[in-house]
Amino acid sequence: MLFSTLGLSCFWCHNLEFKGRDIVSIEDFIQTEINHILDVAKSMEPLAKGGSELLKGKILATLFFEPSTRTRLSFESAMLKLGGNVIGFAEPDASSTRKGENLADTVRTVENYADVIALRHSLEGSAKLAAEFSKVPIINAGTGSEEHPTQALIDLYTMRKESGKIDGLKVALVGDLRYGRTVHSLAYALALYSVELYLVSPETLRMRKDVLATIKSKIPVTENANLEKIMPQIDVLYVTRIQKERFPDAAEYAKVKGAYRIDLKTIEKAKKDLIILHPLPRVDEIAPEVDNTPQARYFQQVWNGIVVRMALLSLVLGAVE
Ligand code: NCD
Repeated sequence: MLFSTLGLSCFWCHNLEFKGRDIVSIEDFIQTEINHILDVAKSMEPLAKGGSELLKGKILATLFFEPSTRTRLSFESAMLKLGGNVIGFAEPDASSTRKGENLADTVRTVENYADVIALRHSLEGSAKLAAEFSKVPIINAGTGSEEHPTQALIDLYTMRKESGKIDGLKVALVGDLRYGRTVHSLAYALALYSVELYLVSPETLRMRKDVLATIKSKIPVTENANLEKIMPQIDVLYVTRIQKERFPDAAEYAKVKGAYRIDLKTIEKAKKDLIILHPLPRVDEIAPEVDNTPQARYFQQVWNGIVVRMALLSLVLGAVE
């Protein structure tokens, strides 16, 4: 469904038209559109609790070529809460990929069975490729180290809900900024707002140059920030897992394993209204003792995944404008 492949400029995309649209990169969205998605997500809160028939008769296919707990289950739960149905697979070995079928053929098959496809894949560019072949909307549910746009929308929704705003926030992104896809999409998204960004990571896991170039042209970015120093000023502490599975070799991973850990001491000098976010899964980068602090919001963030994905499904399927 990629408009560019049809040689058309998507003149209505910037007119809050979501029906039939792919969600491949957060960079495809302007701020007004993101705000609209967040507003629709808010309106989904009562439906997420009480159920709805908004997408009755519609089918979501989840094609997950990589492991997932939250993203796949929340997409599926979101569809079920809207009265729709779900098909799909959670590992490539359970599909004809095992027999050598390529992604383009898989997509051109599944489009016959479903109205929308959520795709997770280890290859960068795979969601874009799928969108080029698919007649139904493709939602990128995570592509390699590249992007995870729906997680970024959840992160923004959580900031707006928990901090009451996005503009004016001072946000620190901590951890694996090189291989972590959530921080790439989130950085692009935050760069659309008036946000000050602090990047904190081990030297070898610094933010990718291509992402850095884009965000630096739009908002103030402090690279290589000292977490202890900035702690009293920041409003959002966004922590990420070291992406062990994406390291080219085990020795490189061994050098950074356990390189940072947020515990009670780390947040001692934090603002009272600091919020701590994490896309999860967590390994050891946030000590369990932090879970009971008023600042910890990563499990609230999980709930927000439902309403944001309900909003996205309703919008691309044209059930909500
Ligand atoms: C993340 C992912 O898959 O990129 N998880 C998620 O979708 N919430 C983060 C991670 O795996 O570390």
